[in-house]
Amino acid sequence: MKRRTHTCGELTKDEIDNEITLNGWVATNRDHGGVIFIDLRDRYGITQIVINPEDKELFKIAESLRREDVISAIGKVRARPEGMANKNISSGEVEIVVSEIEILNKSLTPPIEVDDNIEANEELRLQYRFIDLRRPVMQERLIKRHKAAMAARKSLSDEGFLEIETPLLVKATPEGARDYTVPSRVHPGSFYALPQSPQLYKQLLMVAGFDKYFQLPRCLRDEDLRADRQPEFTQIDIEMSFPTQDEIFRVGEKLVKDIFKETIGMDVETPFPRLPYAESMARFGNDKPDLRFGLELTEVTDIVVKSDFGVFKDVKENGGIVKCINPEKELGRKEIDNYIKHCQEFGAKGMAWMRVTENGLESNIAKYFPEDVQKELIDATEAKPGSILMFIADKPKKCNDVISRLRLKLGEDLELYDKKDFKLCWIVDFPLFEFNEDEDRWEPAHHMFTMPKEECLQYIEDAPEKVFATCYDMVLNGVELASGSIRVHDPEIQERIMKRVGFPKEKAEERFGFLLNAFKYGAPPHGGFAIGFDRLVAMMNYTNDIREVIAYPKNKSAINPMDGCPTPADDEMLKELKIKLDKVEKNEKKEDEKTE
Ligand code: AMO
Repeated sequence: MKRRTHTCGELTKDEIDNEITLNGWVATNRDHGGVIFIDLRDRYGITQIVINPEDKELFKIAESLRREDVISAIGKVRARPEGMANKNISSGEVEIVVSEIEILNKSLTPPIEVDDNIEANEELRLQYRFIDLRRPVMQERLIKRHKAAMAARKSLSDEGFLEIETPLLVKATPEGARDYTVPSRVHPGSFYALPQSPQLYKQLLMVAGFDKYFQLPRCLRDEDLRADRQPEFTQIDIEMSFPTQDEIFRVGEKLVKDIFKETIGMDVETPFPRLPYAESMARFGNDKPDLRFGLELTEVTDIVVKSDFGVFKDVKENGGIVKCINPEKELGRKEIDNYIKHCQEFGAKGMAWMRVTENGLESNIAKYFPEDVQKELIDATEAKPGSILMFIADKPKKCNDVISRLRLKLGEDLELYDKKDFKLCWIVDFPLFEFNEDEDRWEPAHHMFTMPKEECLQYIEDAPEKVFATCYDMVLNGVELASGSIRVHDPEIQERIMKRVGFPKEKAEERFGFLLNAFKYGAPPHGGFAIGFDRLVAMMNYTNDIREVIAYPKNKSAINPMDGCPTPADDEMLKELKIKLDKVEKNEKKEDEKTE
């Protein structure tokens, strides 16, 4: 093979008359009146090569070339004729007059186009990912991913953090999602778990005295997938000893700032605003607010109970609330109906609305609102004539969920923000416990190793709703980018928390006794966080779909259409593992789940 002297993206007029060799893929092959023009592509760009008809043998080879064939071409660089330069590509001022072509590999007709403008169906793209990844847009995304990883490593290393790997075959970590399990051949019947995150292992590194740890670990979680969730994903995982929350935030903010600068040249403003959880819920209806636009919510429960509108009047008695959003704009009946449908899709019983006019509120429910109640509503929402008040009434959790989605939809539809804007914040002061209504018990809101705020320690046993956690999320444009906490390093507090959430001591011993034991041998106070690296890279590529920035992602059913995994275990493998399958049929399984 004739090795390249240059890439397909670097030739300029400086090389005119030089003989060069290019290696690459045939992107296009055009015969223009007996002269063949081929666009040769590699990841650096495209160079046009020209084959004249005089050399019959060479011409025949050129004629036979098809899209995606891999060739080596030798030739002389010349300037493109006057007016023929292609300003869109870096080597657009020159072309190569070819004297020799070597075919390195023929390609079958590619099932998808290597073209940024043609979107193939996703399943096909994943099946032929090795072709899909040739598309310049995909190459650009993975290049950004690389830059982001390098920037993260440099930023943290400069701060004195050490990159330390933790095991992939571990004991099950209690993090909430289901574990992937790996059978042991040496110990038949025993299983490793794949880590959902390095959580316990990084805490143990703190006990070991490595006071600043980081890693870009692969995390594995057997959970339902969404655009921003994959069964295996990457974090930027960090832990520090003797930290304050402010110090952790400083490290996190500098890290994100450095990554944005190095990856897309953007200056992110620091420090990030901090929003208490309760405030975020009140103003935006969720704990991951998109701060690129306003449309803040107003709770109007105490006003609307004074109306005669049935749904609102009794809402308080039924344990519900009413929240209102004002898009500050006139909307047509059809648009309003679409928003009602949108809310219903997310489980709302309905969405009430009233127009704001010079004469008060108007709609078919306005008659139930006496004048003074209307006035109070207008004052509370600061509504001006020419806008609409939209209301959701439900239990607090449902009401907030639906109205926060309505807010996002309005923000998008009304184009209230620049899609290339980035707005970061920290959400702080989360509750430590969450009440699980279905199971009638308190459970950890984040995980069991989160330290309660010192002033709340007294409430653990008798008033768990009053216990706040030293726990925080970093939010970017409405997406939870990172999550972390100061950990419990005191076995006594740990025991009280486990008791409160009903996690038996014996089970704790069995599941993570090794961590609790280590805490008896000099455990420093410690804390940290983990950034969802795929999410961060996706957003720097202006997409929310993390599959677009992962080389070989799984599809929505956790299958990789390229290699076909997961595949059934063959008998040989099972024999070696001393495992016998007693497969539960799908519908049988459903019955099981129902009875759980
Ligand atoms: P958590 O579970 O919140 O915290 O994860 C941290 C961040 O990882 C990202 N993330 C995901 N990204 C893609 N696919 C998934 N399935 C997925 N799940 C989570 C999110 C999330 O904010 N050990 C703790 C961190 C700590 O306390 O230090 C942890 O893993 O962006």
